[in-house]
Amino acid sequence: INRTQKARAHTNIALIKYWGKADEQLIIPEDNSLSLTLKDFYTDTEVRFDKDLTADEIVFNNHLMNKAESQKMINFLNIVRQKAQQNIFAHVKTQNNIPTAAGLASSASGFAALAAASSKAIGLDLSRKDLSRLARRGSGSATRSIFGGFVEWEKGNNDQTSFAKPIEENVDWDVNLVAVITNRHEKKISSRRGMKISKATSPYYQAFKQVTSRDLITMKKAISNHDFDLMGHTAEENAMKMHALTFSSDPSFTYFNGDTLKAMQLVHELRNEGINCYFTIDAGPNVKVLVQHDNLKKVIRKFKTAFGQSNVVATVPGPGIEYLN
Ligand code: DP6
Repeated sequence: INRTQKARAHTNIALIKYWGKADEQLIIPEDNSLSLTLKDFYTDTEVRFDKDLTADEIVFNNHLMNKAESQKMINFLNIVRQKAQQNIFAHVKTQNNIPTAAGLASSASGFAALAAASSKAIGLDLSRKDLSRLARRGSGSATRSIFGGFVEWEKGNNDQTSFAKPIEENVDWDVNLVAVITNRHEKKISSRRGMKISKATSPYYQAFKQVTSRDLITMKKAISNHDFDLMGHTAEENAMKMHALTFSSDPSFTYFNGDTLKAMQLVHELRNEGINCYFTIDAGPNVKVLVQHDNLKKVIRKFKTAFGQSNVVATVPGPGIEYLN
């Protein structure tokens, strides 16, 4: 083989958070999670397997990565080579198409795109379910980025049974998301490390698992009823419960910065003014605000005034994995 394949995967925002692994090696989560795939934030990845290469070469946003930077991706390619029973290195070119550069960079779209492009280039013809299982080996949240719209990751209990499935791929009701970027630098505590510390040390971890299974049921009901306020409220509550695990860990930590708190405050202010919007926050300081069309302009204006024009980006639900050639 010496084939080239390009794929696009969109990032996703968790409405019900994945925070903790039952199996760290295989990335089997403690609980199911649920996300929304986003249209304007995506990764394009092209993979070419080449017999003449003596090592994997990975170019990320036009920068040739060194061994340390590319180790996670090389480990992932090793899994793909093993599945295909091929011993051949790859040239990988990957580009994050995320407006206003960093800050929303995501391992979710990155590993979903790499899973799709590399598996196809090496000659594997995987179903979306099997692609989801493969993407999971790179990063948990990538499991969900194979599908569009609202997606649930079924925790399963082994490599075969842990994969995502679409709940509503074409979101044909009024859901918008405004991303508020408060910091463009990489997070100091990776989600991998953060969730491990939380699971091992937070006295609230079991309580989080219990409320998350209840929140998941509520969230699925909200989505099937197209109940925006129930969806937003449940997402915001679930996010705060996840972040409570970071505060209650030993050592304690947080992904929030001062501007994160300010953005949360603005969401409360908007709600007090009768504008229904809700926030959620992943393992970083940036805030994502869920809002419907009628209130979108007001929300954008409020955040642009507070954080600057270029730090506020609006988007809508997006599609699943796409092959580009
Ligand atoms: C807070 O998928 O980045 O965004 O599986 O260790 O690569 P690894 O972690 P990752 O964790 C995402 C955590 C989260 C919640 C979520 O996306 O569900």
